[in-house]
Amino acid sequence: MLNWLMVLFATLLVFGTVVAYIAAADFANGPYDRELIETTRALGKLAAEQSAAGALRINNDLIRRMARDDGDRMLYKVVDAQGRLIGGEPAIPTPEPTELSAAPQLGDIQIGGVPLRLCTLTVELESNPGSRYLVAQMAETLINRSQLTHQIFVTIAVPQILLTVLASFGLWLGLGSGLAALVRLKEAVLNRAADDLSPVQMDQDTPDEVRPLIEAFNEVLERMRKLLDSQQRFVADAAHQLRTPLAGVKTQAELALRLKDREAVQASLQQVLAGAERGSALINQLLALARHEEGHPRAEMRPVDLNEAARNAATKHVQAAIGKSIDLGFEAFPDPVYARGDPLSIEEMIANVIDNAVRYTREGGRVTSRVLAHSGAGTVVVEDDGPGIPAADRERIFERFYRGLGSAEPGSGLGLAIVAEIARVHGAEVCVDAGAGGCGATFTIRFPAADPHTHPA
Ligand SMILES: Nc1ncnc2c1ncn2[C@@H]1O[C@H](COP(=O)(O)OP(=O)(O)OP(=O)(O)O)[C@@H](O)[C@H]1O
Ligand SMILES: [Mg+2]
Repeated sequence: MLNWLMVLFATLLVFGTVVAYIAAADFANGPYDRELIETTRALGKLAAEQSAAGALRINNDLIRRMARDDGDRMLYKVVDAQGRLIGGEPAIPTPEPTELSAAPQLGDIQIGGVPLRLCTLTVELESNPGSRYLVAQMAETLINRSQLTHQIFVTIAVPQILLTVLASFGLWLGLGSGLAALVRLKEAVLNRAADDLSPVQMDQDTPDEVRPLIEAFNEVLERMRKLLDSQQRFVADAAHQLRTPLAGVKTQAELALRLKDREAVQASLQQVLAGAERGSALINQLLALARHEEGHPRAEMRPVDLNEAARNAATKHVQAAIGKSIDLGFEAFPDPVYARGDPLSIEEMIANVIDNAVRYTREGGRVTSRVLAHSGAGTVVVEDDGPGIPAADRERIFERFYRGLGSAEPGSGLGLAIVAEIARVHGAEVCVDAGAGGCGATFTIRFPAADPHTHPA
């Protein structure tokens, strides 16, 4: 900005100086030219009076008029219509007869390298107007004119230059102090430690214009801090949780190496396999959790039919339910019920809840999932008649790695954390209650009403 303004000021300064010089020369020439014309007229008049004599004698009056102070000199020349010199300085150039006129003509000439201002006029001789005339010329050196031009120029240009320089300086100072806060801010940000995500401090010197920027920047820092925290926690949790299955796999593999009996080796390898499966299930869950966490790119949101999503989720658990003789029921809503979201994520969320219900309900129990709709908003309910969840645990089961006490089932405690993340992304609400009659657990997932305009026809 400063550079641009300086270029603008410099251009204005050059332009202003040139204009000032032209104006000064104009002012200075005016009076001198008028006087030069008067003197030339007097010369013409004198020459006309003496025309009969055929020669010219300059009188005292003209000599007084031609007198100049400060070293300026005046030259004169008079010729007749035929170009014969009547008197004066022959070196003064006389225009061609066709270029002559009765009105005084002004011009600039040089004689012997000295610049002069020249006035030329013609004087008719009364006796025979039109054919007999004299040309009177008067030339003047430029010393006084230059001095006056110079004085006027200095009077105009100096304040102008001073004003421009002062304005530039003021601007430079103003911008400098205005931007100093920004420079300080830049230094503060640059000098931060790489892991320092604390908010940038503002004081009363911070300009109002910069405050919204700092606030926005601090908000980004805060988001980054949360993301970094959650990633650090994720890495720590993942390492911690994977240690257990890996340690089991290692122990069982070492055991298998030492065993001779083929049956025993088989049994150990089964344990190795089970440990590897637990580990890979855990990794899959960790990845699912990471996918839905804040800061990760979102899948495209589109209308999803909850009937279809819940049916698919229930179908995945039919095998497990049969294995435990569980009565796995599904009740669809008579009309399609739409929620905005990613179909695979919504299905994964419902599947995790049904998985828990099937897993924690005793053999021969009952698990029912149903889809409901109320004024455009869809709800999925999964209820079971299992052991239920103690009221004190109902918040905590959504935390990562939290597992209910005394659970004999294998699991890592991530299923409901994933449910909570997917629900957050979709603006859905998940709550847990005791089942009908106080036994079992009921999970309810309420989706926000989907915009009816985005429904397929
Ligand atoms: N339907 C249910 N009935 C009883 N307890 C439940 C039910 N659903 C969840 N829980 C309790 O909540 C805890 C957390 O469930 P979550 O699904 O998050 O983890 P998990 O099932 O233990 O492991 P996984 O990560 O394999 O799903 C479970 O350990 C269990 O104690
Ligand atoms: Mg689970």
